[in-house]
Amino acid sequence: MSSSSSPPNCFSAIASGWLKLLFWGVWLWSCGGRAASTVKPGEISKVEDAQNFHIYYGQTFKVVKNAMDGHSYLLIQNNSRMASRTKYCTSRIKSFVIPLSNYSVDTDLFPAHFITQSDHPQACNFANFVPFSEETPLQRAEWIKFLGVFANVESRANQVYNAIKENYLCLNQVAINKTKSFKPIVAWMEFYDGVWSFTQEALKLKYVEDAGGENVDNSINKMTYNISNPDDLDQLHAILCTVDVVIDGTYTSEPVNYTQSTFLQNVNVEDHSCFAFLANQSLWRFDKRIQNSILDWFDGAVSQPQLVLADLIEALFPTGNYTSTYFRNIARGDGVVNIGADMCNRNSSIALDPTILPCQ
Ligand SMILES: *[C@@H]1O[C@H](CO)[C@@H](O)[C@H](O)[C@H]1NC(C)=O
Ligand SMILES: *[C@@H]1O[C@H](CO)[C@@H](O)[C@H](O)[C@H]1NC(C)=O
Ligand SMILES: *[C@@H]1O[C@H](CO)[C@@H](O)[C@H](O)[C@H]1NC(C)=O
Ligand SMILES: *[C@@H]1O[C@H](CO)[C@@H](O)[C@H](O)[C@H]1NC(C)=O
Ligand SMILES: *[C@@H]1O[C@H](CO)[C@@H](O)[C@H](O)[C@H]1NC(C)=O
Ligand SMILES: *[C@@H]1O[C@H](CO)[C@@H](O)[C@H](O)[C@H]1NC(C)=O
Ligand SMILES: *[C@@H]1O[C@H](CO)[C@@H](O)[C@H](O)[C@H]1NC(C)=O
Ligand SMILES: *[C@@H]1O[C@H](CO)[C@@H](O)[C@H](O)[C@H]1NC(C)=O
Repeated sequence: MSSSSSPPNCFSAIASGWLKLLFWGVWLWSCGGRAASTVKPGEISKVEDAQNFHIYYGQTFKVVKNAMDGHSYLLIQNNSRMASRTKYCTSRIKSFVIPLSNYSVDTDLFPAHFITQSDHPQACNFANFVPFSEETPLQRAEWIKFLGVFANVESRANQVYNAIKENYLCLNQVAINKTKSFKPIVAWMEFYDGVWSFTQEALKLKYVEDAGGENVDNSINKMTYNISNPDDLDQLHAILCTVDVVIDGTYTSEPVNYTQSTFLQNVNVEDHSCFAFLANQSLWRFDKRIQNSILDWFDGAVSQPQLVLADLIEALFPTGNYTSTYFRNIARGDGVVNIGADMCNRNSSIALDPTILPCQ
C-alpha cells in the first residue's frame, strides 16, 4: 500500500484499465483523472453478481458498503444541503462529496484508493477498491460500478458491464458447444521455492471451466510437488503426461526471459516424450501484456474478463485464427508485449469501449 503522503506514482498506476472504460468526455490523465462532469440524477447501478459491495440510493446521497471490511462510504451529491453539513471519517464510515472532481488510483497492486480533496486528512480520502476479493471473473469486472458511483457515471458503468457480461456468457456458450466427447485437461500450475503447485484459486478454476476445459485438480488429490523429492517428481511427471494444456503461472521478475526452457528446467524432468502439451504446442503464460513491469493481467484483464476467456478458448480449442490478448504460448516462442505507455498526462478524447469479440 502506498504511504498516504506520497504522490500517486503514475508509472505503476493500476486500475487504469477500468478508468479508461468508464469515462466519456475529455479524459486527462494527470496521475489520475478528471471525473465526468455531467450529473444525471436518477441513474442507478444495481449489483447483480459481485458479492463484496452493495449500493443504496437516497434522494441526495448514496451509500456504498464494502462487505469485505464492513466499511461504508456515504456519497453526498454536491448540490445538496447535506454536502456542506455532513462529514464522516471514522473507522466505519467515510463521506465524500460527489461527483469527485478528480481522483487517483493507488500505485500498488492492491488495493487502489481514490484521493479526493487534498486539504482533508489523507486517510479520509481513501476508499478501498477490492475487486480481487471476488471469486469469479464477472464478479470482479462488476466493480466498475463501484468506481462509477463516485463520479455519477452509473449509466456508463452499467453499459460497460452489461456489454462485457453478455460477451462473456456468449463466449462461454461457444466453448460449451465446442466440447465434444471429452474436455481438454488443463494444468494451471505455479513453481515456487522448488515446489510445483496446481492452482486452487477459484478464479482460475472457473476460467478453465468456462472455457470448456477440465481442471487437473478434479482428478488428483495432491496439489504440491517438491521437485527435490524423487517420489514427487515421478508423480508430477506422470500427471503431466495426461494433460492437454499447461498454463505456467510461475512468477518471474523478467517475463521476457521466461521461455519454454525455463519451464522445463523448473519441471526438472529429463524425458519429455510423453508431454502432449509440448508436442501440441500448448504451454501458456498470462504475462503477454506488460506495462512498466506490471502485468496487465492484474489490471486490464480484471476489467475485461471476456478477453481472458477468449484467449483460453483458443488455448483449449485452437483455431490458429485468433491473436490472444493476455496469454502467450511459450511452446510456440511467443514473446511479451510491452504496452508501457506511462499513465500520466495521457489525453484521449473519448473513453475506450470494451473490446467485444465476435461470438458465434
Ligand atoms: C457539482 O458538481 C458538478 C460537476 O462537477 C459541477 O458542475 C457543479 O458546479 C457542482 N455544484 C456545486 C453546487 O458544487
Ligand atoms: C484534483 O482535486 C484537487 C482538490 O480538489 C485539486 O487541488 C487538483 O487541482 C485537482 N486536479 C486536477 C488534475 O484536476
Ligand atoms: C450452441 O449450440 C446450440 C445447439 O446446437 C445452438 O443453438 C447455439 O446457437 C450455440 N450457441 C453458440 C453461442 O454458438
Ligand atoms: C523440498 O525437498 C527438499 C529435499 O527433501 C527439502 O530440503 C526442501 O526443504 C523441500 N522444499 C520445501 C519447500 O518443502
Ligand atoms: C533477460 O534477458 C535480457 C535480454 O536477453 C538479458 O539482458 C538479461 O540479462 C536477462 N535477465 C536475466 C535475469 O536473465
Ligand atoms: C493435439 O491436439 C489435437 C486437437 O487439438 C488432438 O487431436 C491431438 O490428439 C493432440 N495431440 C496430442 C499428442 O495430444
Ligand atoms: C478467421 O477469422 C476471420 C475474421 O474473424 C474470418 O473472417 C475467417 O473466416 C476466419 N478463418 C477461418 C479459417 O476460420
Ligand atoms: C487532447 O487531445 C485533443 C485531440 O488530440 C486535443 O485537441 C486537445 O487539445 C488535447 N488536450 C490537452 C489538454 O492536451
